[in-house]
Amino acid sequence: EKGGYDHFMLKEIYEQPRAIKDTYRGRLLADQGIIRMAGIDLNMEKFLNANRIIIVACGTSWHAGLVAEYIFEDLARIPVEVEYASEFRYRNPVITDKDVLIAISQSGETADTLAAIKLAKEKGAFVFGVCNVVGSSIARESDAGAYTHAGPEIGVASTKAFTTQITVLTLMALKLAKAKGVFSESRYHEYLTELETIPSKVEKALESNTLIEIIADVYKDSTNCLYLGRGYNFPVALEGALKLKEISYIHAEGYPAAEMKHGPIALIDEHMPVFVIATKKGHYEKVVSNIQEIKSRKGKIIAIVTEGDEQVRDLADHVIEVPETLESLTPLLTTIPLQLLSYHIAVMRNCNVDQPRNLAKSVTVE
Ligand code: M6R
Repeated sequence: EKGGYDHFMLKEIYEQPRAIKDTYRGRLLADQGIIRMAGIDLNMEKFLNANRIIIVACGTSWHAGLVAEYIFEDLARIPVEVEYASEFRYRNPVITDKDVLIAISQSGETADTLAAIKLAKEKGAFVFGVCNVVGSSIARESDAGAYTHAGPEIGVASTKAFTTQITVLTLMALKLAKAKGVFSESRYHEYLTELETIPSKVEKALESNTLIEIIADVYKDSTNCLYLGRGYNFPVALEGALKLKEISYIHAEGYPAAEMKHGPIALIDEHMPVFVIATKKGHYEKVVSNIQEIKSRKGKIIAIVTEGDEQVRDLADHVIEVPETLESLTPLLTTIPLQLLSYHIAVMRNCNVDQPRNLAKSVTVE
């Protein structure tokens, strides 16, 4: 059942090229310049007339929501707010019938997310569900939706659900950008064709597995880790830290790289590994200067870089390469080495990777 892998988590990490392809199959028709998503087409007016999109989710799905915030605002120019479902539902939020609420949930059963959509519906918002489990409660309660076709995710640590959520949300943003006319034809085509190359680029990113195992061995006894990223890769830093915490029980924090100087930099010494996402597009030069600041305080730097990078290689203790892609698609690649790192560290620490202590696959209590 684990298909020859030692753990479901590893199997699911390796399934990502296929899962991402399954998610866009039948939807992304790049050569015809079409994105087919009935749930959007049938409700296009709701999306186009929305004052804003509110995204609610928990945990890893909330991180996918944060990536989506960047994508929707950047590509489709629609204002987005991302909320923890548990906070949103209890703070008497201002919701109107001009709001579109997107609920993201792998299981479709998370109690807080389900309660949040019920509340939004009562107040007249249009609710769109992005779920993996077909026929789940959130999928049924939503007015419309799109499934991530990731296949069953058994490992408690979410991996392929995250990348397929980002895939669906990217398709949605592109479709809305096209409908709104805010995208040039050539930019739209560039995105569609690039999206089709992602599965093979994920495959390539997975080839760093042996190197990542070596790096994992160096840092497996750490007690604290920092994860830094900027822009599209800030949520990836949060996700990297969550993955390490939940399966290896090492304390980890994710931060936007530029926030380091507002506090966390005080933590840096020779015992602090800092995982930095420093891919070429985005705020590369700024992240490079953050890396210099860490280095001058003797922090250990493990950087996720774009293939062929030399500048960061000179500064970092370890570099892990990922293929080049459009900036907004980088999270689909940069998250892969961080998943593998957490996995190997957890295995080396003899942790129960697939069923970490105190955690359940779906959190059906509030
Ligand atoms: O099923 P959901 O996507 O609604 O679950 C949300 C979180 O409970 C979940 O992502 C959790 O954070 C994972 N264990 C993280 O790996």
